[in-house]
Amino acid sequence: MQKVLVLSGPNLARLGSREPDIYGTATLADIAAACAAAAGELGLQVDFRQTDDEAELVGWVHEAADGLLPIVLNPAAFTHYSYALRDALAMRTAPLVEVHLSNPASREAFRHNSVVAGVATGTVAGFGVLSYELALRAVAAMCDDPSGKGR
Ligand code: DQA
Repeated sequence: MQKVLVLSGPNLARLGSREPDIYGTATLADIAAACAAAAGELGLQVDFRQTDDEAELVGWVHEAADGLLPIVLNPAAFTHYSYALRDALAMRTAPLVEVHLSNPASREAFRHNSVVAGVATGTVAGFGVLSYELALRAVAAMCDDPSGKGR
């Protein structure tokens, strides 16, 4: 079964109580459960992790590159300024889907730029928990595609 890393960046462990008007009331545990359910239907095995630490996140991205593993990534605030994360993701060896719960393009100007988007296969934003589920669906489709589209 194809393994997928589902990685979440800083402050996302606070979901549920963090700005619910923007991010909704689902907790990170709820998102992990939704990902596990979607993965079961799609024939994927999800390894779900969150960190507030840039170095730890970069280490997980290296692990994915070495293991030829696809990534579904919500980089959170790192989206907008972490060149270290972007450089790590540029070494990817499998599809990368950037996800956001909210739609950063409709929010403050500093959220309009993603330094990650240019090295991602694609981005899903604005659909809450569904963003993660759609991202997993995209990963499953790309992994099934013998042409290796998205790599
Ligand atoms: C976010 C959007 C980012 O701008 C923000 O810094 C987050 C969450 C989202 O999922 O909507 O922490 O990535």
